[in-house]
Amino acid sequence: MTISASHSSLGITNICCIGAGYVGGPTMAVIADRCPHLTVTVVDLNAERIAAWNDPDLSLLPVFEPGLDAVVGRARGRSLFFSTAVDEAIASADLVFLSVNTPTKTRGAGAGRASDLRWVEASARQVAAAATGHTIVVEKSTLPVRTAEAVKAILSASQGGTDSSKTFSVLSNPEFLAEGTAVSDLENPDRVLIGGEDPAAIEALASLYAHWVAPERILRTNLWSSELSKLTANAFLAQRISSINSIAAFCEATGADVQDVARAIGTDSRIGPRFLQSGPGFGGSCFQKDILNLVYLCQHYGLHEVAAYWEQVVALNDWQKQRIARLVVQRLFGTVSGKRIAVLGFAFKADTNDTREAPAIHICRDLLEEGAHLAIHDPKVPATQIARDLGQAPQHASSALGRDGSWELCDSPMEAANGADALLILTEWTAFRSLPWPDLAAVMRRPSWLFDARAIADADAARAAGFQVWQVGRG
Ligand code: NAD
Ligand code: UGA
Repeated sequence: MTISASHSSLGITNICCIGAGYVGGPTMAVIADRCPHLTVTVVDLNAERIAAWNDPDLSLLPVFEPGLDAVVGRARGRSLFFSTAVDEAIASADLVFLSVNTPTKTRGAGAGRASDLRWVEASARQVAAAATGHTIVVEKSTLPVRTAEAVKAILSASQGGTDSSKTFSVLSNPEFLAEGTAVSDLENPDRVLIGGEDPAAIEALASLYAHWVAPERILRTNLWSSELSKLTANAFLAQRISSINSIAAFCEATGADVQDVARAIGTDSRIGPRFLQSGPGFGGSCFQKDILNLVYLCQHYGLHEVAAYWEQVVALNDWQKQRIARLVVQRLFGTVSGKRIAVLGFAFKADTNDTREAPAIHICRDLLEEGAHLAIHDPKVPATQIARDLGQAPQHASSALGRDGSWELCDSPMEAANGADALLILTEWTAFRSLPWPDLAAVMRRPSWLFDARAIADADAARAAGFQVWQVGRG
């Protein structure tokens, strides 16, 4: 349903989004594209990131997402702006989205499980200080249940000062987009979830989305249900992946084929066909972090059995990554020391340049530990990012020392395969679905192995070219 510009978003004309990351950038770009009458300003402390969002060359945006360049191209400079002037953008906004990072705490109470809320708190304090008049503050970040209480406390502490007209309403509006399909997820969401206590604020935000989202897809709940729904959605999705990966290992042991099993169970309308693709384990910045947060909250409320149940989803995922690294070593005669392994794909999934918690990081680190030389090719991930993730700089095979593991970046699968003992597919990029098997076999050492952790390659063609083949879940 489309609402005309004259029936505006119940008084909202100026939007500020704090955080120009994987969520803030694409989400605001779509809002600005669909609501050309609004001014949407995305702010960030990271000047380099803002400069990249403002780059005239749309291929250099800091987030790679199919279709995002076109959306930004249409809206930028008209209704969409990127800036480092955080306070000014807050001051002129009727509505502020908090879209900052909420990673797992690395130290202090709850380290390794609880969400680190320092960026949320800092941005809430900034809103409290810089806002003018009435401001709707929207939690877009994924947050522990009852975080809105803390946000409200910070905001209300600033009310009643010199500016007596300064008031706030807090809403929860979690984001459900998946990377790689962010633009289509934002343009056609399964649902938009708004949690809150102030009906006018809820309706103002709902009317914004109503410019392109059908009314029955805009759900309203209380604050706590909204916050918890986001953690629960990610926990259920991740649980499906651990479930299918557990069955994949069982298929390999018994001679069944996990893709057949997934198809057979997926036709049951109660189960459904999506999210049943076994692979090297789930990655991405959120699944693990959000489940660990759920585990932490359950423990906090004394629900230890519930915590243990969800913790197992992460444990199985860790095991899947380790078992793939171990399996590669075993099949290569128990040692990969000094051997070249072509790694195809480093991003945590196809169609993104994001490597946060990518299974490739863990699998590559294990292989480096075993002394392998990794020839890595990914269509979108640069060497600087891989060096950060692996904790070591690239090194050409010829200069790699003795038994220490090393890695180099390659421009193509062919270059990576040159002289390699094995090809290891870790990301399901479309280009890896149809590789030139005879050409690859011709430049590799024999016996040549294909380890396909995504089960996307044409195994028959690879075998015909002389490869030994392992595919996840195929016994
Ligand atoms: P991100 O790290 O890509 O971006 C966050 C940005 O916030 C960074 O650029 C950082 O510099 C900026 N920032 C932090 N504190 C700030 C401050 N006080 N002022 C200005 N800028 C500040 O993170 P992301 O992937 O966009 O995730 C953001 C939130 O959305 C997280 O809570 C995440 O769980 C949630 N989420 C992410 C996804 C996803 O696909 N990545 C999907 C749904 C929800
Ligand atoms: C996920 C959710 O799908 C989004 O709804 C949510 O908004 C987001 O997390 C978030 O909160 O950050 P995302 O992590 O971007 O999105 O991507 P997914 O498509 O969910 O994939 C996550 C991981 O699971 C990837 O490593 C992917 O390869 C893996 N996966 C996914 C599988 O191994 N098998 C599948 O069938 C599906």
